[in-house]
Formats: sequence, structure tokens, C-alpha cells
Amino acid sequence: ELSPIDKAKFVAAKRAAELVEDGMRVGLGTGSTAAWLVRCLGEMVREDGLKITGVPTSARTAELAREVGIEVITLDEARWLDLTIDGADEFDGDLNLIKGGGGALLQEKIVATASDQMVVIADKAKEVEMLGAFPLPIEVIPFGWQTSQALVEETLISMDVMGRSSTLRMNGASPYVTDEGNHILDLHLNRIGNPRQLALVLNQIPGVVENGLFIDICDTVVIGYGDGKVEVRD
Ligand code: A5P
Repeated sequence: ELSPIDKAKFVAAKRAAELVEDGMRVGLGTGSTAAWLVRCLGEMVREDGLKITGVPTSARTAELAREVGIEVITLDEARWLDLTIDGADEFDGDLNLIKGGGGALLQEKIVATASDQMVVIADKAKEVEMLGAFPLPIEVIPFGWQTSQALVEETLISMDVMGRSSTLRMNGASPYVTDEGNHILDLHLNRIGNPRQLALVLNQIPGVVENGLFIDICDTVVIGYGDGKVEVRD
């Protein structure tokens, strides 16, 4: 028996899996919700003979996809994708997102952008009026990361963004390392009034590789509820 939160994630994943058709190249997201999707697709491949190739957005997802029987190729082999299905940490009324709580934002953004369509699967608790309560992850290269952090904080002050503290994401006693060998700064902003502008400005800072704001990338959000209800927004 699933807990209400797992049930919500599962039913959203299951509904989104119905969008996947034979012959599609599918971007496979990262995180606990996306893991339900990968397991659903694996079952469809094994039991219904669904024929797809998957492009994973992390080493973790690649491992799970292979385990459940999905053929995995790289983005360079696929070049473009029909559909990417991924989770999110927050989504707003314009279907803009914060992603990267699981640390995979860089590959996730590249894969989603290479896709004709991006579908987000999320439980209802991820919906917000305004993005920013969830700390915004930004990926920085290890070289001079403290200088990049100082530049980020100066930029936030100049933009008058609320809450300017940032923390280096840790993995025990050492800095967290992404699949691309970088670190993550989590920005504690509370409210992001202009996510579009912030996303552009952050990526201008030397050492910043990418930020977790997904603006105009997501086409559809499939929202799962603890009682098994599903709602589709697009
Ligand atoms: C991974 O880097 C993230 O972008 C995830 O998609 C996001 O953190 C959602 O994860 P959950 O589905 O586990 O909440």
C-alpha cells in the first residue's frame, strides 16, 4: 500500500506514460517521481512490447532504465527527442519550474530543451503562486566556486531579490559533485518576482554553468493527488 505522496507521484507518472508511443525517443527525468515513470515505461516495454529508446538525465536514471528493460542511448546518439517526462521541485501558473533538488538540473535542462515536448509530473504540493520557496539550485564549476558565489550574491543584491544567502550543497563532509563534475549552490530566495530575468542574469556569471529555473520549457504538468486523482494543465 502506497503512502498518499507516493500514490500521487505514481498516478501522475502512470498518466504521463500513456503519452508515450511506439518508436518515440523519450527523455527520462531524475528524482523520485521520474523513477515511477521509468518503472511504468519498463513495464510497458516488458509486458506490452512498447518500443522506445530512452535518453536518461543522470547516471542514476540510466541505471534504473537499464534495470527495467528500457533501451538507453545518449543524447548525442538521439540528437532530438519526441518527449521528455521529468519531475520538478516547484511549478507555477505559467508552468515555469524550479528543478535540481536532485542535482541533475544541467542534463535535465539540456535534454528537455532538445525535446519537442516536456511533460512534468508532480504531486499537488509542488504547485506554487510564486517560485522561490524551494531553494534555487545553480551549478558552478569547482574552480573558484567561492568567487562565483560572491558574484552571485552581489548580483542578487543589485537585482533586489529577496533573501540573498546561498549555501554550497554538501554530501556528508565534502561538496556534492554532479554527474558533470561540478558543485551546486542553493540560493535561498523565498520569492522570485521575475524568474525569466533571474534565469538570464545568473547564467551570465563566470563559473555558473546553469540554473534550475526552467522558463518556457515545460508544455504540460500532470498533477497527481494522494487519493489517486489526476489533473492535466497545459
Ligand atoms: C532532479 O535534479 C530534480 O530536478 C527533480 O526532478 C526534482 O528534484 C523532483 O524530484 P522528486 O520527484 O524526487 O520530488
